[in-house]
Amino acid sequence: MLQKVVRSTIIDAPIERVWAVLRDFNSHDQWHAVVDQSRIEGGQASSQVGCVRAFSLKDGHFIREQLLTLDDVQHKSTYCIVEATVPLQRYVATVTLKPVTDGRRTFWHWESTFATPPGQERELRDMVAQGVYEAGFENLRRHLQQGADLRAPGSAPMPTALPQPCRRVVVSNYGGPAVLVAQDGEVPAPGPGQVRIRQRAMGVNYFDVYLRRGWIPALLPLPGTPGMEAAGTVLDVGDGVTGLMPGDRVACMTPAPGAYASVRNVAVEHVVRLPAAVDDDVAAALLLKGVTADYLLRDLGRVQPGARWLVHAAAGGVGLLLCAWARRLGARVVGTVSSEDKARLAREHGCEHVIVTTDYRFAQGVRQHFGDGADVIVDGLGDAAFEENFEALAPCGHWISLGQASGPPRPVDPGLLVHKSATFSRPVAFAYVATRARLAERAQRVWDALADGTLKLPPIERHSLEAAARAHERLESRKTTGALVLVA
Ligand SMILES: NC(=O)c1ccc[n+]([C@@H]2O[C@H](COP(=O)([O-])OP(=O)(O)OC[C@H]3O[C@@H](n4cnc5c(N)ncnc54)[C@H](OP(=O)(O)O)[C@@H]3O)[C@@H](O)[C@H]2O)c1
Repeated sequence: MLQKVVRSTIIDAPIERVWAVLRDFNSHDQWHAVVDQSRIEGGQASSQVGCVRAFSLKDGHFIREQLLTLDDVQHKSTYCIVEATVPLQRYVATVTLKPVTDGRRTFWHWESTFATPPGQERELRDMVAQGVYEAGFENLRRHLQQGADLRAPGSAPMPTALPQPCRRVVVSNYGGPAVLVAQDGEVPAPGPGQVRIRQRAMGVNYFDVYLRRGWIPALLPLPGTPGMEAAGTVLDVGDGVTGLMPGDRVACMTPAPGAYASVRNVAVEHVVRLPAAVDDDVAAALLLKGVTADYLLRDLGRVQPGARWLVHAAAGGVGLLLCAWARRLGARVVGTVSSEDKARLAREHGCEHVIVTTDYRFAQGVRQHFGDGADVIVDGLGDAAFEENFEALAPCGHWISLGQASGPPRPVDPGLLVHKSATFSRPVAFAYVATRARLAERAQRVWDALADGTLKLPPIERHSLEAAARAHERLESRKTTGALVLVA
């Protein structure tokens, strides 16, 4: 009669992290304490169905097992013993993982059937149930807890992984929102220095609109996928990647687009680990915009108590963060918005005075409020507000041309600036997070500012990845406040 052993447990790690270890048929000598040494015979890959692992146990036994099935969608594998010095006969085992509904934990089911010599049924059942399965649960738990810290340069490479299916938004022709079309795709295993991320939320930025319209074709050659930031979970990492493990929650912002996708490979220098308190959609909503507010205030605008700042689109994604942070650092902030509802929100986030205008007429209001104008203007409006911005600028003021929601700005003549002894900047956020350390430092300041109340969580409007076109329509309609994210 066949014996049956069934055991299950919950592992406090996301399914991708647990599966990355278990799908490697030759990983058990790294995490299971009873296994001494293991190798795959014949030089086959350890995820190749049919491969045989030959391993010794610490008690001196020797076993050969064959991988019978491996299913990356169901997170399930089956294997059998083909030869062993332990008297387990016709042993067939199945490992199945399921995500626990909160998404961060994993249900692990391990079962087997086998025959035994007469009289050894109970002894061998106990050996498999406790010595192999229950001990294995504990050992893998410990392995995962230590893993992220122990993985150092030169350590064993991660298991060879298969291409992963994904959905991605593709622009085949430049144009209106309708050119954003979701398609099936495939993402290869991460190359050296890359991290493959299961992206659950992608930030929508006004910059994505410029790309979609074809204003910067060199950055989005056709067909191309827009999107500069996202958050999710590490699936696996390429050679040379340190400090990140499968299952780690991360966010990324990349100088090249491609973020509107459910799975993506990203160079590790553009990836930051997320604190547990920051959800994926919050990270995708805040990373690029928060980093922008950080460099504008600390580096480019060198904010000082009492400095007079003019922030356009003050109820928008960047605008709300900038107003709140500038105010906390002691600046005085005037904002422009296009509706009374937006004005209310901008005031709640730190604007001391809000000018409501739909036709870029604000210079008079700014000068009335600030006296001779603004010391710093953060201008995401572009061409339609050109004259008004110069008019609103105080002597020796700094005009930061951040974006061009109303159209690309005309060139600035130095002869114009001399009239106010003004300075003019045209910055790009990615230049301010050029290294992994710099990105981590700025991102941490954003999360800290959120945690200590400096930044109030802005409204986040969510759309599915499939509905990227709708998200762009909404952003361009001037009706949104705060940030928009796509979720997959
Ligand atoms: N250079 C950088 O490093 C960097 C980084 C991030 C963002 N940016 C720029 O910062 C600006 C804000 O970006 P965001 O992603 O946070 O977008 P957003 O502010 O949430 O949305 C754009 C806002 O611009 C205003 N707007 C004015 N004229 C518009 C027009 N003709 N069409 C559409 N909107 C118009 C609207 O606010 P009202 O209706 O209230 O006027 C709209 O809500 C953009 O210009 C973006 O390119 C630059």
